[in-house]
Amino acid sequence: MTSDQAFKNVQVLKGIPLDDFMGTMGVMTGSLAFDCSDCHIGAGTDTVNWAADTQRKVIARKMVTMVANINRENFSGRQVLTCYSCHHGRDKPLTTPALEDVYGPAAPGMDDVLTQFEGQPPAQQIIDKYIRALGGQEKLAAVKSYVGKGTSVGFGGFGGGADVTLYANAPNQRTLIIDFKNTPGRGDTTRSFDGRTGWLRTPLNVVGEYELSGGELDGARLDAEMSFPGRIREFLTNLRVSLPVTISELPAPESQMSKEENVGIGQDKLVDVVQGDTPRGMLVTLYFDHESGLLLRMVRMAKSPIGRVPTLIDLADYRDVDGIKMPFGITFAWLNGRDAIKLEEIHLNVPIDPTVFGRPAPHPASAGGN
Ligand code: HEC
Ligand code: HEC
Repeated sequence: MTSDQAFKNVQVLKGIPLDDFMGTMGVMTGSLAFDCSDCHIGAGTDTVNWAADTQRKVIARKMVTMVANINRENFSGRQVLTCYSCHHGRDKPLTTPALEDVYGPAAPGMDDVLTQFEGQPPAQQIIDKYIRALGGQEKLAAVKSYVGKGTSVGFGGFGGGADVTLYANAPNQRTLIIDFKNTPGRGDTTRSFDGRTGWLRTPLNVVGEYELSGGELDGARLDAEMSFPGRIREFLTNLRVSLPVTISELPAPESQMSKEENVGIGQDKLVDVVQGDTPRGMLVTLYFDHESGLLLRMVRMAKSPIGRVPTLIDLADYRDVDGIKMPFGITFAWLNGRDAIKLEEIHLNVPIDPTVFGRPAPHPASAGGN
């Protein structure tokens, strides 16, 4: 299903997969530091009407065309200018260089597309170290499936405490279910991928449930492949190693979770940075702990008509499971939300009902809604 089939009033972002359309909404929201409602609640009302044109929505639509024109006329159509280039988290872009910035520290940041840096080891070496840190190729190859169980923490106004189940089946099936059984009417969130098709169902979503077909499908495939890391080199191509950098866990927004609840990778970790491409051309950057060799962060960037749509996954709290290191803390963050998961147990090589990787079963709590 494409954007203009699914929605009533799509004029410039037509003919793109539904997940990529929602990605463009994320890019707009993230670039201007808006909520969805900032563009979708009109003057004089207090309810969201997605299809109605608000003043800001009309401006945003013009900006989409403006950005495409600038890129075409000045950068041979390369998508180098995006909403974020000008807006940087403001409704109105800054116009004058502030002297405290001119004389202050340089703005941090990293190019999207990285190249092999002279003097850095080949990617092979960093990945080999990772595989060894996990327990070695032989032990990893013996893992055919696993099931993790735990809870989610904070976020989204619903608090934590949802039951989480993670299913993975080699080589590339994965399903994550977050069941808010303690919040009546909330329903659950399911992300499933059966090796070919993927589904997302979440009651927080405008669309409720849909089959992935754009960047999210590529992302689901990546998550599934990375659940069995012995296969990185087969899945990601054109691997290149940039300069090591330091990264820290995502801050815990005080309103949504306590600092202690944060499922974090810690502060100021020196990491080796490896980037590769998926078969469908999505950029994936992997951050490996320089010391332990373990994978701490994975950032993927899906294409959209107005810029790349980033998704971040942090892996923390690695523990030993039958001789293999598995991450028990998982943070999954996208432009409009975040799931933070603490697993309590992981069981290797258990049989899994194949239907869990298919289309999510209808949930009574979300029937008829959103
Ligand atoms: C900066 C303004 C802006 C923000 C913020 C924004 N949108 Fe939009 N939204 C638009 C524009 C512009 C369109 C129309 C796009 C077009 O005409 O191609 C649109 C269209 C939509 C539509 C299609 C409605 C229909 O029936 O035609 C949905 C659904 C939607 N947005 C959801 C969201 C969600 C969810 C968020 C928050 C994650 C969001 N938007 C944030 C500007 C915005
Ligand atoms: C080349 C720089 C540039 C880019 C790129 C850009 N904008 Fe803007 N945008 C501006 C400027 C400048 C203004 C303020 C204009 C004014 O004050 O009249 C603005 C204003 C807006 C406003 C009105 C905000 C308000 O409430 O006052 C929205 C909404 C907006 N832009 C959305 C977007 C979106 C969405 C994108 C990406 C598709 C985008 N812009 C890309 C320069 C840019």
